[in-house]
Amino acid sequence: MTNAAARRGACVRALGTYSPAAVRTNQDLARMVETSDEWIVRRTGIRERRIAAEHEYTSDLCTAATRDLLDRAGVAPDDVELVIAGTTTPDYAFPSVAAMVQDRLGMTRAGAVDIQATCAGFAYGLHLANGLVSSGVHERVVVVVGETLSKVMDYADRATCILFGDGAGAALVEAATPGRFRASVVGADGSGGPHLYRTGLSRRIEGEAAGTLAPGLVRQNGREVFRWAVETVSRSVCRLLERARLTADTLDWFVPHSANVRITEAVCERTGIPLDRTLSSIERCGNTSAASIPLALAPAIADGRLRPGQTVLLYGFGGGLVHAGQILEWGPAGATAHT
Ligand code: UT7
Repeated sequence: MTNAAARRGACVRALGTYSPAAVRTNQDLARMVETSDEWIVRRTGIRERRIAAEHEYTSDLCTAATRDLLDRAGVAPDDVELVIAGTTTPDYAFPSVAAMVQDRLGMTRAGAVDIQATCAGFAYGLHLANGLVSSGVHERVVVVVGETLSKVMDYADRATCILFGDGAGAALVEAATPGRFRASVVGADGSGGPHLYRTGLSRRIEGEAAGTLAPGLVRQNGREVFRWAVETVSRSVCRLLERARLTADTLDWFVPHSANVRITEAVCERTGIPLDRTLSSIERCGNTSAASIPLALAPAIADGRLRPGQTVLLYGFGGGLVHAGQILEWGPAGATAHT
């Protein structure tokens, strides 16, 4: 083991998730807007998505996912030092979702902060948590991400409302020697903001015609975001591989944000990552924004495809436009692949 490899770092020790009970199929959507199961499956890969109940909000989903996480990890609420919540659909402007989760689960020693990185919220959260834990500032950080996007859709916009679903996921990032994160990158292109945004209350986005959309709804130029995502994620994946001194064929799993199966296919073609080494939540959950990566990881952990020690590349991208990703060895320190 080299000195560098023996340095203190961080690992993802455990993962928790929560999906609302109600399922909305493509056939259900075809009764709401002019669309079809055939179009949605062919253009996106989505078959169904989970929809939060009327009384269920993002803090409820995030609390359930974090409870699942702590149960699986066998960690007491008081052992958590910081909750980072990533969401683009918080219950309120404030209090933060993180503070609500902290209170409901009795994490009396934890700080709480929300981050706004849209569909890249999980990868940004891991980036921050890895930095804070690796540098010795914290021992144990919860990164929780959740969305109730069904509540902020414009159901007159069929190209967008068919995509999104609700769900939550949480990861426990803990000190580990050696660290399990091999590389982490973040990036942004704020000039692309008008291509994907949620309308604000105070100011219209540049180019937005007055009165065209009720406050608080999502608007997307799908073609532009698609093009940007394929180019950006392909380039960034290569950058991550270079930083980690790995090649595409050495990855066990590639887990891009589940936005559209055609984006994943295009990125795989450009980067040389085999499509059968990708994990996705798109088919059953739709696009759950920040929650899509943990929702893709969880079933693979449950059925044994994703095992401790395997090398995983995660990549989030979305509104902002922002993006972030990591290469990490899955699981706690000391875990080895194929055990
Ligand atoms: O998670 C955040 C990041 N977001 C993304 O990554 C989203 C990226 N973009 C996409 O996934 C795709 O652009 C969409 C799924 C949003 C749209 O697919 P597309 O293949 O780019 O469709 P389009 O907007 O170019 O529309 C093609 C046609 C149009 O008809 P015409 O003008 O060719 O006659 C649309 O009116 O498909 C029509 N269309 C639909 N037809 C049936 C658009 N939405 C629908 C629909 N059902 N739901």
